[in-house]
Amino acid sequence: MLYNFDEVIDRRDTGSVKWHYSDETIPLWVADMDFKAATPILNAIEQVTQHGILGYTKPTEALYDAIIGWHGSRYDLSLEKQNILFSPGVVPSLALMMNVFTEVGDAVLVNDPIYAPFMTKVEQNGRTLVTSALKEVEGQYRLDLVDIEAKIAQHEVKLYLLCNPHNPGGRVWTTEELEAVLTLCKKYNVTIVSDEIHQDLTLSGHIFTPLLTLATGYEHHVVSLTSMTKTFNIAGIKGSLIFAKDNELLKKISQQQHLNDEYELNLFAYAAMRSAYEQGGAWLAQALAYIEANIDVTVRFLEEHLPDIKVMRPEASYLIWLDCSAYAEDDKVLYDTLRAAKIELNAGISYGEEGHLKMRLNVACPTALLLEGLKRIDTALSDVSKNP
Ligand SMILES: Cc1ncc(COP(=O)(O)O)c(C=O)c1O
Repeated sequence: MLYNFDEVIDRRDTGSVKWHYSDETIPLWVADMDFKAATPILNAIEQVTQHGILGYTKPTEALYDAIIGWHGSRYDLSLEKQNILFSPGVVPSLALMMNVFTEVGDAVLVNDPIYAPFMTKVEQNGRTLVTSALKEVEGQYRLDLVDIEAKIAQHEVKLYLLCNPHNPGGRVWTTEELEAVLTLCKKYNVTIVSDEIHQDLTLSGHIFTPLLTLATGYEHHVVSLTSMTKTFNIAGIKGSLIFAKDNELLKKISQQQHLNDEYELNLFAYAAMRSAYEQGGAWLAQALAYIEANIDVTVRFLEEHLPDIKVMRPEASYLIWLDCSAYAEDDKVLYDTLRAAKIELNAGISYGEEGHLKMRLNVACPTALLLEGLKRIDTALSDVSKNP
């Protein structure tokens, strides 16, 4: 079946976080796509309501098979049922991991820039946030392994929250980079939690490697988090997965989940997850092709109209990291300038100090809407001069 990603669907007045405005703002910010979900997923949800009984529900064997099948065939990640736990979301899992692996006051390492909840959950849970800035090399982020080791040693880091693929930079860490990180963590006995929620949005020419496939011999210190919600644009459904290979570790995580009874999903999430992993591949392939075309459109537009914006082309995801430092000196002024032109992007500074004068642009929307948004960015920034 062919999907029409050009269709503009009105999301105003639906409670949408992305489209909350009362004016004509174009929202190209939060990581949520303006595309209708895959038909098999919508059908699966409809089947649940048609059945009509919405009682307590647990994951079925067919759901476990779907999860195992998807990750095995796409990423060579071999999972068994006992390696899989359910969680209401990846961010809740990040908070959970803090409580499984660390005590109040312990140091937790994250990269900078990083998806903001990596930082806020560490701080809100009373842990000490330690950051390691990513290095930009030839327009792409690299992990600074020397700095990571120094920070681990200096702060006696207990837990490293890694984001692979990286949000906001869109980098898909290579096998070599991941192995180097594992080597460092082994040396200092650091647990790694890898947030892999953007795994399925890896773009052509790049290969996503699940950290667990490299963790042989270190399984008791490695956990990965993922979800079908980002991949299939069903974030409102809520639901995610926790994978680990070590039984003791799984027991510890499961016990922590049971403290607050947060180990199960609602029946719509189970149904959506199963159909996504069983039948969502065709939608995903088409969505990714559309996203790649939108990335090309954006890169060309910016080269032509705002050549001083430095574009970090994503290796995964539909989020583009833009260095706007040629057009502003102050983060708030930059954000407000764009807002005044009725366009919303995420302010880079909310992803850490390395996000200074950067903006994150979401291109997962109909191309016509994207082009209108790009025109507004052009109008807003081309009037701005650093030296008035
Ligand atoms: C890296 C990363 N982790 C987690 C999330 C959110 O996960 P959830 O909605 O399952 O809490 C996002 C959403 O954008 C994300 O980019």
